[in-house]
Amino acid sequence: MIGIIAAMQIELLHLKGIMEDVKCDNISGVEFINGKISGKEIVAAVCGVGKVFSAICAEAMILKYNPSVIVNIGVAGSLSKKLNTTDIAIAKSVVHHDLDTSPLGDPVGLISGINIINIDCDKDVVNLLEKSVNKLNINNVTGVIASGDQFVATTERKNFIKENFDAVACEMEGASIGHVCYVNNVKFGVLRAISDSADEGSDMLYEEFAPIAAKNSFEVIKNFIMDYNE
Ligand code: ADE
Repeated sequence: MIGIIAAMQIELLHLKGIMEDVKCDNISGVEFINGKISGKEIVAAVCGVGKVFSAICAEAMILKYNPSVIVNIGVAGSLSKKLNTTDIAIAKSVVHHDLDTSPLGDPVGLISGINIINIDCDKDVVNLLEKSVNKLNINNVTGVIASGDQFVATTERKNFIKENFDAVACEMEGASIGHVCYVNNVKFGVLRAISDSADEGSDMLYEEFAPIAAKNSFEVIKNFIMDYNE
């Protein structure tokens, strides 16, 4: 089974529209939609904004449906000159940019306990996501995607994330979903379409581009589902 966690309702609506034999379950306030796309078993959910809601969603999805892979789709702010609005960022790894025990001598972003900063995405999933985007001729960059419980909208914070993590895009859920997948030994990937520039003025860009970007990430995940083999 393929698990899809969307950050926005609009993405799940598109997915639901092409799903057959749909069944729904509500767990911890999250609606899980289970069905088939091109004969493949899918479970999809909108997680809600931020790292706690997305972690709850990923853990519940794993315990209830046991997916072989989880892909997180959604929108993100750009941290790279190579990524403009509606382009696609694919994670090679994810980091928590707001996890900071540096006063205790740790590097910024270190996940104490598992002692890593970057959580690697599954390489086959990354390759297939790249193929799925390239089929649509959408400009894309694969790199580090940074998550934190904040909408990044200042040059200062944007530069902090770029400099500390060499990240290409920022959002609010990918690292927590990756973290949950890591501890449960489930393959994962993150695919984000760029809605804004993650600095001053990003709120205006977000309003204009988030719906188009969300449609792009849906189109890519549709290709991914068609070509994914368990
Ligand atoms: N999602 C889309 N744009 C974002 C931004 N600038 N910061 C955090 N999450 C985002």
